Amino acid sequence: MRNFDEFTITNAVMERLKDSRDARTHQISAALVRHLHAFVREVEPTFAEWEAGIDFLTRTGHFCDDKRQEFILLSDTLGVSMLVDAINHRSAEASTETTVLGPFFVQEAPECDLGADISGGIAGEPLLITGSVSGCDGKPLAGAVVDIWHSDSDGYYDVQRLDEIGDLAMRGRFRTDANGRFWCWSIKPAAYPIPHDGPVGKMLEAQGRHPWRPAHVHFMIAAAGHEKLVTHIFASGDQYLDSDVVFGVKDSLIGAFVERPAGKAGDGRIMDRPYCHLHHDFRLKTDPAAATSPAEFASA
Ligand code: BEZ
Ligand code: FE
Repeated sequence: MRNFDEFTITNAVMERLKDSRDARTHQISAALVRHLHAFVREVEPTFAEWEAGIDFLTRTGHFCDDKRQEFILLSDTLGVSMLVDAINHRSAEASTETTVLGPFFVQEAPECDLGADISGGIAGEPLLITGSVSGCDGKPLAGAVVDIWHSDSDGYYDVQRLDEIGDLAMRGRFRTDANGRFWCWSIKPAAYPIPHDGPVGKMLEAQGRHPWRPAHVHFMIAAAGHEKLVTHIFASGDQYLDSDVVFGVKDSLIGAFVERPAGKAGDGRIMDRPYCHLHHDFRLKTDPAAATSPAEFASA
């Protein structure tokens, strides 16, 4: 077959896919070609625009290394990450809603005792984080692994300033107690712009968009026989709740960072200055196929 024109080229490419190695590869390849061709037909790019597109993708690739993933940032800012998340979390169960993982999760986070201060001595308003983990039946999940991480009061994560601060901070891995509870101390996080010194930042600028995310604390929670939960709790009242650059905010994930006076805190600690308190009760979806031993689900 030859002499393809703008009306016959799509079917010609489709025909070439017929020996794909399996049905799923065929489905994905065919959808990619169909949508890509439809996009080009709609936009009718000039050669200069087509080259600019290739150059954008090339620069996006060149910006990626073991610390920076510009393609995930692109997926996040185009709403693709949240769309994939939504498709993979369709459920009638009353489990805690999910949101994006983001680039600042660290697999080897410090293991901490309940009640530990994870601020790493970084200045900021003290924050008491408390919560519980249960199944959708309301039964507490003891021994669940709870990863917590967040930005500082200037909006930076530890991994963005490691040269300055020397060690990981504002992150820790906890295990819930016999009643499914966890708690720790840290500092109040601030809203922050996603890394926007690369191609994605330039794209946002061209699209007339800001790069900000509302202040939040990240949680990743794993428990035997349950689906791993990746979510955040956002600070109520934050000015970016309705314009989060990665479309991650859900009403059920907005929590109050309640101002408390100096004195005896909920965990018995005596505070000599006012502090903030964030509490959230998390519910995990059951998943019979999920790992059943703590060692397995911690690394899953
Ligand atoms: C974050 O919340 O850490 C994040 C999520 C998506 C893109 C950039 C940062
Ligand atoms: Fe974040």
